[in-house]
Amino acid sequence: MSTTSPPLSLPPIGLGTFKTSITSSIYHAVKSGYRLIDCAAAYSNQEAVGDALQQLFEDGVVTRDDIFVVSKLPNTHHVWTEGVDEGRVESSLKDTLKELKLDKLDLFLMHWPFAFEDVNLHYPSARLSDGSPNPSVSMKCEYKSTWDAMVRFRDLGLCNQIGVSNFTIEQMEDLKSHSAVTPFCNQFEYHPYCTNDSLRKYCVDSGIKVMAYSPLGSGSSSYPPISGCSLLDNSVIKRIATANSRSAAQTLINWSTASDENVVPVVKSENEGRIVENMAALGWELSRDAVENISDLNENYRFFKSYGGVNGGWHDGVLEARGE
Ligand code: A2P
Repeated sequence: MSTTSPPLSLPPIGLGTFKTSITSSIYHAVKSGYRLIDCAAAYSNQEAVGDALQQLFEDGVVTRDDIFVVSKLPNTHHVWTEGVDEGRVESSLKDTLKELKLDKLDLFLMHWPFAFEDVNLHYPSARLSDGSPNPSVSMKCEYKSTWDAMVRFRDLGLCNQIGVSNFTIEQMEDLKSHSAVTPFCNQFEYHPYCTNDSLRKYCVDSGIKVMAYSPLGSGSSSYPPISGCSLLDNSVIKRIATANSRSAAQTLINWSTASDENVVPVVKSENEGRIVENMAALGWELSRDAVENISDLNENYRFFKSYGGVNGGWHDGVLEARGE
């Protein structure tokens, strides 16, 4: 493996960049102390992130070695045909490095365990609004050949670590039986409405880090049937936040690390005040009772619906739970 410097360890909190287009907010986040930036080709904004990183390096705010940069392989760039399409992984990874203006990623994730045949599709919805499969998307559950290609590009030095995202326990077990290379992490939706307990425990017990996306509940306008409200408006969260003199967002972020120190929350915000507020969410402890009360809010509710529906049967675990 041609690494030039030892891999950085995973920082305790990350900045999500989904739907973020403001270079200045990324600059501000790093200046405020964030050391993990979570990107993806599918977010179509990596050039803005790259501009922020370049400015931060030029201004001497941080060096490349201070920052842990994550990006993800889109569904369109899996190995669709074994032995033929490995170049899709390479071209996506190289485009990502170009957009981010970096020589190497710290961590390269497979965004989903699903492949789209058409490289020209951007990130279409795999299901139509009525829940039926989108006929313009030819997709399949595929990750083994793609993983092998990712291993090769890690070994060539284009990234320090590789991992997965949105994988179920069954898929991780399947990958384990296929490859000797263990994913560095699994990034999945993780918040009090979707605690994904068995997946978290499986990862931690297997020495696989957990990156928690949407720890605040994603700002979505659809809510789970029992609570019927956003996490930030949930009365249990608000009561515990007030009792600890913290905001609801800080309470949620703190909870995400409370069950296990191996969980790293990835929080999105474009607002400078909230970026600083979220960074201050760690470094104190919720009581055991508070952690349990928050965990009891679990409804297996995912704000991000799974692509698995089209392939039916692959997602049997909690990760599959949907909110419809
Ligand atoms: P904004 O960018 O205006 O701050 P998640 O990370 O769970 O997906 O949540 C992201 C959403 O939560 C975004 O809409 C973001 O909006 C909002 N958000 C981020 N931090 C806070 C906060 N401290 N308080 C309230 N809302 C927040």
